[in-house]
Order: sequence, then structure tokens, then C-alpha cells
Amino acid sequence: MSMFASSPPIEISELVPIRDLILEQTGMFFEEKKFYFIEKRVQKRMQATNSTSVREYYRLLKLGGGDEIGQLIEELTTNETYFYRNIPQLQSFAEEALQLLVEEKRKAGDYRLRIWSAACSSGEEPYTLVMLIKEHLHDFARWKLEVVGTDIDTKIIAKAQMATYDERSVKDVPPVVLNKYFENQGGRHRVRPEVTNLVQFHHLNLMDRYAMRRMQGFDFAFCRNVLIYFDEDSRKKVVNGIYDALNPGGFIFLGHSESVGKLSGAFKLVKFQKSLSYRK
Ligand SMILES: C[S@@+](CC[C@H](N)C(=O)[O-])C[C@H]1O[C@@H](n2cnc3c(N)ncnc32)[C@H](O)[C@@H]1O
Repeated sequence: MSMFASSPPIEISELVPIRDLILEQTGMFFEEKKFYFIEKRVQKRMQATNSTSVREYYRLLKLGGGDEIGQLIEELTTNETYFYRNIPQLQSFAEEALQLLVEEKRKAGDYRLRIWSAACSSGEEPYTLVMLIKEHLHDFARWKLEVVGTDIDTKIIAKAQMATYDERSVKDVPPVVLNKYFENQGGRHRVRPEVTNLVQFHHLNLMDRYAMRRMQGFDFAFCRNVLIYFDEDSRKKVVNGIYDALNPGGFIFLGHSESVGKLSGAFKLVKFQKSLSYRK
């Protein structure tokens, strides 16, 4: 049996300060019934750092020391994602929102398009957006497209930059798209450079208001399947931060169970045929 499995249980009262620190730093909120999830990861990190008590480990988290907070955050994030996730919503984006916005831009002679995939995990979302845009803009060659993918988890960003995926990640990719934008690399699927060259990845914590303020001039922001892990106050901060990062007329797309509704009155609700979005 591993040392991990035999770690003694941690008292709830000892986990509360760690839970609160995680909330303050990341926006991720764990209710008491989810404490088993934090407990396992704290035990793992305590072993990795040779901490002999939770109190000692908490001090390490607070005082820095090899970015232990970053290490724990990486253990706590849920990175589940895949290409072409939520196809009806992506259709609303590519067939309706994108067309609306590029038509306005064409009239203004502005051929720049900037898209932010906030909480992009291993990169499937930003790469999907490039593929969709290439497929849906008849005058794609005229456009200067820039897609930025950001995430709090540095390890997952490194994976995104590798751009090589297993079968499970591409299960929803239409076969024509799979043939066109992926190449086989030792039985895995590697995204072709014509797509990867248009995406930049950065580490960014959505709760870091200084880093958020540097995000400016986006036409679309995708912030999908991350706010579900946050408390209400943090969700509001993120949605307002994204509002500021968007150009006038810019759109935000959230995950299917997430809504701007109670979080911000600044956006206008836009009803597309297959899903909803919000516009600045
Ligand atoms: C479930 S994935 C969503 C990926 C993609 N957007 C999708 O919908 O398929 C959630 C991502 O949010 C990231 N995340 C969690 N808290 C974050 C924060 N405070 N700032 C930035 N990213 C965060 C996690 O690291 C994880 O990669």
C-alpha cells in the first residue's frame, strides 16, 4: 500500500483555512461535502513536501516556497475538455455570432479578429475555434486572426502547446475537419501548424485583477466550464473582467449550465437558434 493511501485523515477544521485560501487565490470553492477531494490532494502534497502536520503545510502554502500554492492548485483543477465540445453552441458562434460581427467589421474595414479562450485547459477549445473560423469565413485569407488561450494550470498549458491528442479528445471532431487539420503522429492526433500558429498560450489566473486588466481588445471570449467551480462573488469578478476585455459589440460564450444572468447586468442577452450568448 502506498504512503498516500495510508495518510491519516485530516480534520475538517484544519482543511477550512486551506479551502479559504484556495477560494481567495483561484475563485474555486469547495463545500464541506467536497472536502474529501481537497483532503486527498493535500495529503499528496504534504508527502511531496515532507510536511509533518497540516499546520506546517498551511504555512508553506502561505509563505510561498517553491510555489507550493501553484502545485496544490494544479492538483485541484478539473481539466476535462475535448475538441468540438458543445456543438450546438459552436454552431451559434460560427454560423451566427461570427457572421454578424465580421460583417460589421468588414463594413468598417477592420480585418482583425481576436478571440480569448479563458480557462482553455489542454488547448482543445482554442484550436477548435481556429478550425471553425477557417471553415466559416469565406474570405479568411484577408483576416488577421489571433486566438489567445489562458489557464491557471501551467502543466496543462504545456500540454496545450504540444498540440498532440489521443482518440478521446477528437471523438466529436467531424471527419473532414479531422483529415484537414490533424496529422497522425505515432497513433496520436497532432494539430497542424496552420492552426497552432494562430494560437498563443499564457498562464493567467482569472482572479488576478492585474493580469485581467492586461487582457484587452477581444471580439469573442469563451469562458466555458470553469465558473461552475467558483463561488458567486468570484464568478461576478470574472464576468466583469471579461466584459472589460471585450471590444464594444464583443460576445461572451459560457458553458451550457452557466449564465451571465445574475452576474452582470452589463451584457445584452442574444438568442441564437441553438443557444444563448451575451453581447457587450
Ligand atoms: C473543465 S476545464 C474547461 C476547459 C474548456 N474551457 C472547456 O470548456 O472544455 C476548466 C479549466 O479551468 C481552469 N481554471 C480553474 N480555475 C481557474 C482560474 N482561477 N483561472 C484560470 N483558469 C482556471 C482549470 O485549470 C481547467 O483547465
